[in-house]
Amino acid sequence: MMEELPRPTLFDFHGVSMTKYFTDNWDNIQNFKARPDDILIATYPKAGTTWVSHILDLLYFGQTGPEHQASRPVNEKVPFLELSIPGVPTGKDLADRLPTTPRLIKTHLPVQLVPKSFWEQNCRVVYVARNAKDCAVSYFHFGRMNSAQPEPGDWSNFLQLFMEGKVVFGSWYDHVNNWWEKKQTFSNIHYMCYEDITEDSAREIDRLCSFLGLSPSAEEKQRVAAGVTFDAMKQNKRTNYSNTPCMNQKVSPFMRKGKVGDWKNHFTVAQNEHFDEDYKQKMKNPALQFRTEV
Ligand code: PPS
Repeated sequence: MMEELPRPTLFDFHGVSMTKYFTDNWDNIQNFKARPDDILIATYPKAGTTWVSHILDLLYFGQTGPEHQASRPVNEKVPFLELSIPGVPTGKDLADRLPTTPRLIKTHLPVQLVPKSFWEQNCRVVYVARNAKDCAVSYFHFGRMNSAQPEPGDWSNFLQLFMEGKVVFGSWYDHVNNWWEKKQTFSNIHYMCYEDITEDSAREIDRLCSFLGLSPSAEEKQRVAAGVTFDAMKQNKRTNYSNTPCMNQKVSPFMRKGKVGDWKNHFTVAQNEHFDEDYKQKMKNPALQFRTEV
């Protein structure tokens, strides 16, 4: 079991802000041996990783009997590749030991730091992005409740750090842009948005299925859609991280709000103007547009 952890400090790691909890096992991570049927779920933190992990888990393994669903939490079924926290198996070891086919593997790494075997094996990658404002808010509350994260400070302090990329896994702007660029040359990336799933989860599940080559029955699809609603996942102890000691859910629950537009409850008018101005400078690709309301 993970204990309450000493808050880590950020440092520059190959040009990206990181903490030791994601770099301590670096050589093993870089040498990870992906298999051709592995599916990598890649996201900037707080973009909907757990949501899409649970969707994929139900699509692939929802039918394989109650033991699979009942027994293990999502963070064991979908190992977090770069996680290396004292007292628990590393994400890399969990991934190596996964008995399933395909293996579902989670990463928050910026595209340039992803182990090369995923590209060599032409693995399928599901990338999930979420608009920067809601991501920042969600990440702020996550920092408050999770002792594996650096101290976030107050909201205005954290927002400034977020804009400067001085948060774990670096700049949101670089992350979403560089993964988008990768998609132009590596066709096995399905780039999806949190806001689209919120708007119409059935449509997004259909799109995922066609990317993955799955054809579940209407009944199966309905079962998956019902299992991945915010309320179902908030109640489900396999998806709500309630057994993770470094997370204090009394400070802020992991399944917090699950909304598009909660940023409006956090940004002041001045913060919003400053953010929008800075955003324009950093997000110049007209093809990559995010919705901050649905
Ligand atoms: S992590 O720690 O990076 O893996 O977090 P991640 O899973 O990427 O993101 C957590 C946020 O996703 C929200 N979430 C959902 N929203 C809507 N519906 C469903 N089913 C769902 N599951 C997770 C979760 O509530 C976090 O967002 P906020 O805005 O903080 O509520």
